[in-house]
Amino acid sequence: MKTTVLEVDELNIDSEKINMAASLINEGRLVAFPTETVYGLGADADNDEAVKSIFKAKGRPSDNPLIVHVSDISMCEKYVSEIPATAEKLMGRFWGGPLTIIMKKSERACMSVSAGLNTVGIRLPSHPVAHALIKAAGTGIAAPSANISGKPSPTVAEHVINDFNGKIDCIIASGAAKYGVESTVIDLSEDRPKILRPGAVSLEMIRELLPDAEYGGGGKGIPKSPGMKYKHYAPEAKVFVVKEDLANKAKSFSGAVAIMDYEENRALYPDELFFSCGADDSDYAARLFCLLRLADSRGVNVILARDPKLDSEVSDALKNRLYKAAGGEVL
Ligand code: TXA
Ligand code: MG
Repeated sequence: MKTTVLEVDELNIDSEKINMAASLINEGRLVAFPTETVYGLGADADNDEAVKSIFKAKGRPSDNPLIVHVSDISMCEKYVSEIPATAEKLMGRFWGGPLTIIMKKSERACMSVSAGLNTVGIRLPSHPVAHALIKAAGTGIAAPSANISGKPSPTVAEHVINDFNGKIDCIIASGAAKYGVESTVIDLSEDRPKILRPGAVSLEMIRELLPDAEYGGGGKGIPKSPGMKYKHYAPEAKVFVVKEDLANKAKSFSGAVAIMDYEENRALYPDELFFSCGADDSDYAARLFCLLRLADSRGVNVILARDPKLDSEVSDALKNRLYKAAGGEVL
């Protein structure tokens, strides 16, 4: 299969290209597209066969539900049985943006999207290209992150091309994702609001509107968010999170080592080992997945990564993704 790559400038959207991609969605094909969090691998959320082909292309376990991306709240209404008052509050403040809300699903949402659960996750992205695509398609777009299952999520189109060239019909390329970590997932289908996955909309920000919100879903039994039980964001290299004395600890590793640290510490390391995380956690989050993929492409065996500063709204999400990549290995 030939994969068409369409370059689209988010500040000057080419509607012909968007219409071309939207037609592919309407025909049941797969289109990867940019969002403000990470790139998504999209299909018509109403087309069960098309949605199944997402699982196949990614190698994704079929019990892991997908997020439906909408272009406005009336589109969201079709996929849920009702919009709770708690959801209305969050939508008013955080949509469009990096927040996925889980609600009880309606009959319309196809079975494969929700992987057999009675709930569905909905997100209204802020990225103008994502918005234009959904609007032109006139249907919700089911989309997981556009990476092969188990690989870091894609923050630039090249990552998507690396994973899916020749395997999907179309990739819309539009620069680097702003946040670089996936959306916050909050479950509002039960009494108490529970954040199942941290993202750029932080627990503190949500608590301003819903004071009883908490992190949840990590208990025993069936995980509330099936995606969280799988190994995630794993590069080929072994990742260690280092809390202190990184320069010294690096000396005890031999072979191809990469050091991820803030720009301010650049002088501590040999140039060829240094991967800059930028100035703060929001830079670090935006670069993390890109740096993990870069390390793999250079054949690095060990990545020593600075523990986050915790200076940003995205810090919890950054920490969550980094610790998962490290499989909990902290030095
Ligand atoms: O930022 C994002 O959310 C990106 C972009 C493309 O929008 N998408 C994304 O999708 O990260 P994915 O499929 O890689 O992650 C979705 C997460 C998974 O952990 C999944 O289990 C959870 O959301 N999820 C989706 N629907 C759910 C539901 N009904 N109940 C519980 N968890 C759900
Ligand atoms: Mg994913």
